[in-house]
Amino acid sequence: MKEKIREIERQALAEAASADNRDAIEVLRVKYLGRKGAITELFKKMAEVPAAEKAEAGILLNSLKNKVASALEEKSRSASVSEEEPGEKIDITLPGIAPRLGRVHPVIKTIYEICDIFVSLGFRVVEGPEIETERYNFETLNIPLEHPSRDAFDTFYLKPANPQTRKPLLRSHTSPVQTRFMEKNKPPFSIVVPGKVFRPDATDASHSFQFHQVEGLAVGDNIRFSDLKGLLSTFAKQMFGPNTRMRFRPSFFPFTEPSAEVDISCVICGGDSNEQRTTNDERQKCSVCGGKGWLEILGAGMVNPKVFGHVGYDPEKVTGLAFGMGVERIAMLKYGINDIRFFFENDERFLRQF
Ligand code: PHE
Repeated sequence: MKEKIREIERQALAEAASADNRDAIEVLRVKYLGRKGAITELFKKMAEVPAAEKAEAGILLNSLKNKVASALEEKSRSASVSEEEPGEKIDITLPGIAPRLGRVHPVIKTIYEICDIFVSLGFRVVEGPEIETERYNFETLNIPLEHPSRDAFDTFYLKPANPQTRKPLLRSHTSPVQTRFMEKNKPPFSIVVPGKVFRPDATDASHSFQFHQVEGLAVGDNIRFSDLKGLLSTFAKQMFGPNTRMRFRPSFFPFTEPSAEVDISCVICGGDSNEQRTTNDERQKCSVCGGKGWLEILGAGMVNPKVFGHVGYDPEKVTGLAFGMGVERIAMLKYGINDIRFFFENDERFLRQF
């Protein structure tokens, strides 16, 4: 019996090793482990083995069965990976896996939309440096060193390259590009200036230490406050829809005189003249304007003659209008986004939606 077991083991394992397709493996399985297979037959012959040898023969036989079964199983696993059924073809018409395309970030998209509107009104797009000097960020804009309004604009200072010179800073608004541009160009001109700005604000749903602005500046002969109003209400209607109304509130900026803060009628509840969409009660509950009916979107005014003095223009001869708006704020109102942090978290589930 032992002889027989050893012989079958040698033979079965050798044949299993050279079986290279599923059919050949199945033939071997039937030949050795099937109902009339060689190993099955040996089990039947156990009855004839003398009692003294039975235990040992049983162990050997069981181990033979296991070895052959696992050798065949191993083979059939690797065969099913490498084997292609005859007549089976790769289906090249199956759709592939589409690569995910990038898209324009909602802040940049909003900058494009804002600039497109002003370009259609005759403005041209200009950019300036994000690292500024105190001279352009403050002084040429009529914000003197000791002026309290510097606090609100105060920003991140950098180490100067030379310790004798004044510290450069990250610009706190895009307004320094006004005087940079005026120093190098003669009026008349109309420019818009998109870009990043920085302020040491604590981050929350509506504040970020870095955000974007679009600045506007038009300088020429006899530019009036009515031009500013007409220009900005045309912009608001194109950006937020034809029913958008505007409101100018008196305000203060050192570089404009007079100055205004500009509100639009609420994009959600429509403000106080929208009889169709809202009742007074519904408007009280509006979560975007808090029931006020108005949303602040920008600061603006007529260029202060002192600013013209700083860039060598004759303040008696030239006039100008200027405005500056927060891009994230406009994008949030336009697209119904309730937290500024979404813009900077780089979460694809947010970015995919634009
Ligand atoms: N620079 C001002 C700010 O950042 C906005 C502004 C620009 C106001 C131009 C008036 C004119 O708040």
